Amino acid sequence: MLGGRAGAKIRRAFESSSLVCFVFDDARLIGVSRAITDGDYHAVIYDVAVHPDYQRRSIGSRMLSELLDRLPVWRVILVSDDADAQRFYRRLGFADYPDVLARLDRGRLYDDASHWDQIVSQPVTSSI
Ligand SMILES: CC(C)(COP(=O)(O)OP(=O)(O)OC[C@H]1O[C@@H](n2cnc3c(N)ncnc32)[C@H](O)[C@@H]1OP(=O)(O)O)[C@@H](O)C(=O)NCCC(=O)NCCS
Repeated sequence: MLGGRAGAKIRRAFESSSLVCFVFDDARLIGVSRAITDGDYHAVIYDVAVHPDYQRRSIGSRMLSELLDRLPVWRVILVSDDADAQRFYRRLGFADYPDVLARLDRGRLYDDASHWDQIVSQPVTSSI
């Protein structure tokens, strides 16, 4: 489960990414992240997550560092609406970039459309 997503769709997303980073503690998956890039100019980093039991142990920093070392491009974008995570990214050199626009089709976020129906019926606390 990653950000409310699970199953074949999130698996395909990782398989289709240009770079993926997985961190294991023995057989236990404790960290994930991925990037999509054209290899020359642009890259986007997605789905950076460390298991709660393992946070604040530099695992997220190390994953970002490993991804960035393999992204020889002039602009790397990432999206995060989590204030804590934004502090983490700012420490790693990411800054506000106001020229970014996004077009959202929220119904495509989850495999199961009913999952989205449950979420939109809850109060919205943040949005892009
Ligand atoms: C944000 C996240 C990736 C950071 O990974 P991490 O391994 O915990 O980060 P690090 O240990 O490398 O932290 C480095 C620094 O980032 C900052 N930081 C990290 N997590 C933070 C938090 N929760 N609150 C405030 N600052 C934080 C701190 O400054 C920290 O340094 P410090 O521990 O010396 O104070 C991780 O906390 C996480 O997965 N959070 C949940 C995000 C999520 O749900 N993502 C889903 C995306 S789909």
